[in-house]
Amino acid sequence: MKTKIQQINDEIDSIQLNSLEEVEQFRIKLLGKKGSITSLLSDFREVPVEQKKEIGQLINLLKNKAIDFIESSKTNFRSSGSSEYIDLSLQHEINEFGTRHPISLIKNELFSIFHKLGFVLSEGPEIEDDWHVFSALNFPEEHPARDMQDTFFIEKHPDILLRTHTSSVQVRSMENDKLPIRVICPGRVFRNEAISARAHCIFHQIEGLYIDKGVSFADLKQTLLFFSRELFGPETNIRLRPSFFPFTEPSAEMDVSCKLCGGKGCAVCKHTGWLEILGCGMVDPSVLELNNIDSKVYSGFAFGIGLERLAMLKYGVKDLRLYFENDVRFLNIFRNYL
Ligand code: PHE
Repeated sequence: MKTKIQQINDEIDSIQLNSLEEVEQFRIKLLGKKGSITSLLSDFREVPVEQKKEIGQLINLLKNKAIDFIESSKTNFRSSGSSEYIDLSLQHEINEFGTRHPISLIKNELFSIFHKLGFVLSEGPEIEDDWHVFSALNFPEEHPARDMQDTFFIEKHPDILLRTHTSSVQVRSMENDKLPIRVICPGRVFRNEAISARAHCIFHQIEGLYIDKGVSFADLKQTLLFFSRELFGPETNIRLRPSFFPFTEPSAEMDVSCKLCGGKGCAVCKHTGWLEILGCGMVDPSVLELNNIDSKVYSGFAFGIGLERLAMLKYGVKDLRLYFENDVRFLNIFRNYL
């Protein structure tokens, strides 16, 4: 009896079934009315009592093994939709994962830095109206940024345009959010500029806005210092130079010490030791008033960062056009960044 059991076991282990029909034939051979396992069960009656336990277990194991084998063979043929034999031990083809685009990488990094300071994400439309892009931000009628050369207007709709900066999202935050406001606004922006290694008509910004009682320039400076050191390393220094934006007063442009030469001067920083990375300032009280925020009670700061520029510095990208071409040789460079 034991030998018979062993023989059937071996048969299951060694059989090669090539079609659903062969599986069915094999099933009948083992488990059909006159099948070898079925006849084992009827022979079982003759087994001496003292061996019944052991043999019974062996037969049960064999029967379960046969049922499992038949079922899984059937499923394989069915799922492949063919009657071909499938080699289940073959390794499947490994799909390669894509890489993150450098602009996404730098955006995610900035998110996590500003998140630590309590800033939350805010997004808005790319097609905007004059109010959100210019008027609510105190742009005088004749300001050059409104000029047709800089801004893409939607034909026949002089009030509708592609946003030239994500400050428009900050206006939407001032309209809709409860005070205090602490948002960062990432997104694509559009300017009518000739495409070259250093300029493009589409690029990305992250702008930040913080409005609360008693916000001062010192808060702005410390926030930007924290951000710069998180991004470029703890030795980084910053420098603020007076500047002008219609919506901030005072306004500044911020430089970081050049990481490549440690501030000594090199080709990348044009031998100045500094690299310009963002514009910032205290929100002009008239902008607060235009957005129904009491400027006697509240104050705030804002800043705007160009992501392409930042990624150029961080990853050593020399030509801005590479970001938009999606050449896999370029994208593959970022395979090891998360
Ligand atoms: N919106 C400005 C730009 O696009 C940048 C900026 C934002 C400057 C906030 C100051 C404060 O150039």
